[in-house]
Amino acid sequence: MQNKNMQKIGRERSQDLRRGLTSNLRKTNQPCSDWAKHLFVDNAHLYANVLEARGKIAEGVAIAGEISEFLASHGIKRGNVLDIPCGTGRVSAPLSNQFGYTVTGVDLSPTLVEMALAKNRNERSRFMVGSMQNLGGLFAEERFDAAINVFTSIGYGTERDDINFFKSLRNFVKDDGIFIIHTLMNREYLVAHFDERPTDYIDAGSLTMYESRTFDRATSRVKAEREFYGSAGEDGLELLGKSSSDMRIYAPSEVAGMLTITGWKVLHVVDDLASMQKVTPETIRFAVVAKRD
Ligand SMILES: C[S@@+](CC[C@H](N)C(=O)[O-])C[C@H]1O[C@@H](n2cnc3c(N)ncnc32)[C@H](O)[C@@H]1O
Repeated sequence: MQNKNMQKIGRERSQDLRRGLTSNLRKTNQPCSDWAKHLFVDNAHLYANVLEARGKIAEGVAIAGEISEFLASHGIKRGNVLDIPCGTGRVSAPLSNQFGYTVTGVDLSPTLVEMALAKNRNERSRFMVGSMQNLGGLFAEERFDAAINVFTSIGYGTERDDINFFKSLRNFVKDDGIFIIHTLMNREYLVAHFDERPTDYIDAGSLTMYESRTFDRATSRVKAEREFYGSAGEDGLELLGKSSSDMRIYAPSEVAGMLTITGWKVLHVVDDLASMQKVTPETIRFAVVAKRD
């Protein structure tokens, strides 16, 4: 009997969540750069394939494991974690379902948020549409034990946008709470090794994405043009959509500096949370861990 009641409460709660999300999903007018809206919102059905490729899902589970181990070592064992931006929930879902955290996932893209919600297997966690540039519009009194920002998820707008995000995020993290950025492309590596050959190739399951990039060393921005192709039988490819991006690539010291001036104490700048190796110009991607100062 108790089980039946629990199931009923579970169903009602998930219907509530879905209703909440449905009204929340209408809020597509979030502050963001034009290209981010085009790629992540208007073309989410294409971009989702990149996050949902098999390797990326397994990577999400591994990242969730690293993060939970790290947080536990700082005394945050089953706390509440803000995953911003959460995308399709490839990290939020295992962090919540497998590692027991209460996760709030926020992302600009209604389609990606819905995919994240579909992966949620418990009643503690929730997913909502919102922008990193408008945290005040999402939360009022709430304070998280930790916040995470995974897989090159800053640098989409201006440096000022990222500084504002760090500053505002600080208001929603508890005293001594942790902020993990996991991971960003290292500008120092890119300066020495940027591959000028125009076209890269990524096979995301049924979808093929061609990407050509340029790196402007003066502005430290990588501009990319992407073409998404689906298969059209007999080895043919059908162009499904095009999208561009324009991202600020940071050196580790720049991210550490921005965090420091916005009220965070930088604890680690490392290659990843598992090996915790110090970064060098040969480190391709880096993670930063900061504590609310
Ligand atoms: C590279 S994906 C990473 C997603 C997720 N962290 C992961 O590792 O799978 C970047 C995400 O940022 C989201 N995004 C872009 N601009 C945003 C903004 N201003 N506010 C919130 N989310 C944003 C996109 O919708 C996309 O899901």
